[in-house]
Amino acid sequence: MGKEDRDQWIVKCPKCGRVEDSCRHVSRDDVRRILRLLKAGVEVFPADEEEPETPEPHFHEPVHLAHVVAPRYTWSDLVLAPATREGLDDALTELRHKTLMYKGWGLRKVVKKTKGISLLFAGPPGTGKTMAAEAIAHELGKALHVVNYAQMENMWVGETEKNIERTFAKAVEDEAVLFFDEADAVFFRRGFMTTPWMNRDVNVLLSHIEAFPGVVILATNLARALDKALDRRIDIAVEFPLPDAALRRELYRRCVPKQAPLSKDVDFDALARKYVLSGGSILNVVRQAMRSALKRGKRHRITQDDFLRAAERETRKATLLAQDHLAPSLRQERIRGYA
Ligand SMILES: Nc1ncnc2c1ncn2[C@@H]1O[C@H](COP(=O)(O)OP(=O)(O)OP(=O)(O)O)[C@@H](O)[C@H]1O
Ligand SMILES: [Mg+2]
Repeated sequence: MGKEDRDQWIVKCPKCGRVEDSCRHVSRDDVRRILRLLKAGVEVFPADEEEPETPEPHFHEPVHLAHVVAPRYTWSDLVLAPATREGLDDALTELRHKTLMYKGWGLRKVVKKTKGISLLFAGPPGTGKTMAAEAIAHELGKALHVVNYAQMENMWVGETEKNIERTFAKAVEDEAVLFFDEADAVFFRRGFMTTPWMNRDVNVLLSHIEAFPGVVILATNLARALDKALDRRIDIAVEFPLPDAALRRELYRRCVPKQAPLSKDVDFDALARKYVLSGGSILNVVRQAMRSALKRGKRHRITQDDFLRAAERETRKATLLAQDHLAPSLRQERIRGYA
């Protein structure tokens, strides 16, 4: 049978006859695993028949389960609402005084183990979550390990579990801060939507998070959709809301370099009041305004009109993306695309 035919496999329950779906007899995980193994070319044949030719052996290639980031951002680079800053400050305070809290003040006896700390950063795209993770690692003088889910997840039984173990072991060895970006891809509330991850692997991941002696940070745009089992494992949840007008003005001030040739009419305050945009979007606005000015010629200054047009454009883009986020079918596609 050719490889292209394998996409046509259909799983049928012998008891109730349901096709390619879960039922009372075959769980959703079973169906998913069966289909994946069939697609990967796993064959079933009676023991007395001749073994079919093996096309190519299955190698376990070394994979990069997390990439190591030397933190570029520091605490002072962050422009944050007071509540967000306070949450991050709480986390840093506990990390700096962990020994006193757990040993000196005896918290270890109550919590029953030497604990690391787990943080959840929740908020819309471009609000500084990745940046804050880097800043925390920087403050602590540690490297940041950004987890690569696509590499970690493996359809062979037990492989994902081993990969998860390796990832955490490496982070312990390097004393790194472990960062799960887009955590919703894995920790989607069970039964809420299908994820490419098996329940058992999610449980393994959760227990490792609980036992991790260091700092683990999870970031998501969709906190409400996260697995309830995750809640208990999160020590501090920090919200990253869209910046208010005052913060946006500060973001423009920081995102526009001193050397940039601004025309006299440029008014960050007006831009900040008019357009509700994240820090990431403001950075895009600045770049787009620079491009517009450059298209007129290298000696041209960047005008308020360049900024206004760029901000209009960015606002339209943000609206489109927000719609995309709310559309469950699109979201599902994106998450499936993760596997
Ligand atoms: N609070 C902020 N303070 C300063 N700069 C910011 C802030 N938020 C965003 N930026 C700017 O926008 C860029 C993108 O932000 P970042 O990648 O941290 O967003 P994010 O919250 O991780 O977004 P996503 O959810 O899409 O991953 C940063 O590199 C920075 O230049
Ligand atoms: Mg990010």
